[in-house]
Amino acid sequence: MTQIQDTEIRNLIFKETQRQSEGLEMIPSENHTSMEVLHALGSRLTDKYSEGYPGMRYYGGCEYVDKVENLARERAKKLFGVSHANVQPYSGSPANMAVYFALADPGDTVMGMALYYGGHMTHGLKVNFSGKWFNSIQYKTGEDGYLNYETMADLAAKHSPKLIFVGATAYPRIFDWTKLRLIADSVNAFLVADISHIAGLIVAGVHPSPAGIADVITTTTHKTLRGPRGAMILCNGNPSNPLKPAPRTRENLPTLIDRAIIPGLQGGPHNHQTAAIAVALKEAGTPEFREYGSQIVKNAKRLAEQLSNKGYKLVTGGTDNHLLLIDLANKNITGAEAEHSLGQAGITVNKNTVPFDPRPPFDPSGIRLGTPALTTRGLKEVEMDQVADWIDASIKHSKDEKLLMNIRSEIREFTRSYPLPGETTLS
Ligand SMILES: Cc1ncc(COP(=O)(O)O)c(C=O)c1O
Repeated sequence: MTQIQDTEIRNLIFKETQRQSEGLEMIPSENHTSMEVLHALGSRLTDKYSEGYPGMRYYGGCEYVDKVENLARERAKKLFGVSHANVQPYSGSPANMAVYFALADPGDTVMGMALYYGGHMTHGLKVNFSGKWFNSIQYKTGEDGYLNYETMADLAAKHSPKLIFVGATAYPRIFDWTKLRLIADSVNAFLVADISHIAGLIVAGVHPSPAGIADVITTTTHKTLRGPRGAMILCNGNPSNPLKPAPRTRENLPTLIDRAIIPGLQGGPHNHQTAAIAVALKEAGTPEFREYGSQIVKNAKRLAEQLSNKGYKLVTGGTDNHLLLIDLANKNITGAEAEHSLGQAGITVNKNTVPFDPRPPFDPSGIRLGTPALTTRGLKEVEMDQVADWIDASIKHSKDEKLLMNIRSEIREFTRSYPLPGETTLS
């Protein structure tokens, strides 16, 4: 095989690494993985086919990938305190899709949080498979931005969903799993906790865990958990032969989930991704990671305090977790404009709807930002004060290109002291 060097792609990878390194990545669903995670991702494991599960594969030569997958499963079970883990979902959306397939039939009623109030597309958005193939009932937050458990209970009683998805992409507060369990029980529904955003906080003990309360837990592995792109489905129960259909009971959840992934939805697992997930789970089991998770929240709270003091209107008035949702209506700037000017200054955030947003989703009133990636680079509360100043100046002077460029060079200089994992210096 002739070895070519793809300089175009190499150059683009270099540029992207430089962009991340020289700027402040504040999209709350992003993070910077360790070199060990990157090493597993870029390994020969990507070459291997292994449809099935460890010990039950449709391909030969699986002795090492079996060990990799078993390590990932064991680490996941231990870390989250569950008896069963499926580490094969390609990403968060397919993981959620597998849960619907496992627990409901097309046309069944399901319930989830509306996207424009903080939920995820796969929680029942009408144009997503979850809203097209199922009769999806969507709950919203109250005017104050908080989940309203009474309204949820009323909605559940009215519609009797088969399953209730709880979890969010843009919700800055804690989920009360016990209250949610009671709501699910009141209508005999399965409770699914999608902890994609907060998995790392749960591991660190700074957000309550749904383990042992929710029937099924789904999570991506690439957000606060700081692993590669990927996902896991966690539950309790008694696994039986995944090659044979099982009735929809709580006891059978492991078999139902495993069968929904394969043969239900996916083919060969991405073994390089599974190995990288295993590495991330090992890292997440260390005392340093607990420190990291609690620092994410401290940083987010400090940033929230600073921005509030500068007159920014935070949805719910603050945060309990890693993210802030800011309603910019009183700042005479839209979410899209703020995303753009912050981007010019080297601060990456995303525009976002706020609850009861009068503006359309492509040009909403708010922005969403978070601290997981900055915390990985070693920023602490005192640095959040500086970050808040830069955010404020970039929003206040969003049309002043010269000022935005000045902030950009200040940030470039600043980030030299906070290298990405494994990075020494770019120059
Ligand atoms: C709560 C939640 N669930 C699921 C997903 C989907 O994950 P993926 O983008 O890996 O498909 C996301 C992604 O943002 C999410 O925030």
